Amino acid sequence: MTRRVAVLISGGGSNMVALARSMTGDHPARPVLVLSNKADSAGLTRAAEMGIETAVVDHRPFDGDRSAFEAVLHDRIAAAEPDILCLAGFMRVLTAGFVERWQGRMLNIHPSLLPKYRGLHTHARALAAGDAEHGCTVHEVTPALDDGPILGQARLSIDPADTPDTLAARVLELEHQLYPAVLRRFAAGDRRVILMP
Ligand code: GAR
Repeated sequence: MTRRVAVLISGGGSNMVALARSMTGDHPARPVLVLSNKADSAGLTRAAEMGIETAVVDHRPFDGDRSAFEAVLHDRIAAAEPDILCLAGFMRVLTAGFVERWQGRMLNIHPSLLPKYRGLHTHARALAAGDAEHGCTVHEVTPALDDGPILGQARLSIDPADTPDTLAARVLELEHQLYPAVLRRFAAGDRRVILMP
């Protein structure tokens, strides 16, 4: 049975594009919705160009009322009847109530080798710590921030010349390989961890 995938974004959507491009042929899933909390997300245009249904649920009118925002968010996502939810650069922290409704069906990509560097500014923090390695993680979403079971990690060696920007760009390339690989397995019901390299 083909799995239906909704992708949540807030910005450029390059991970969303990588995921959407991967879902062809014998892939067990197909994209059914790309939703952003920002109407001007470049990723929405890219999704529409790929023929994927798009939606916007702006968080700002809810004025900090996360539960009210998430009630609308949930209904809009549910209308597309997804089996799997992929957070791909979706920059809103979700409450436990929302997460619990989708738990076991929701993935996130985070730009660090979790459990290191939950939250923001991961590349600068890896450099400041003098780390030799950095990378990205795909994990199941649980109520604690950036903390669910790890499904895949991709790593690279930090170069002495790296800046937060060069590191972000290099990690993003890894993200585009890791996230589709994990989604393909997850959609087939296989939760074994993928390690790259
Ligand atoms: C990616 O690097 C993703 O890992 C990060 O935002 C970027 C989105 O890029 N996500 C987080 O930091 C989540 N806490 P994209 O819009 O081009 O996919």
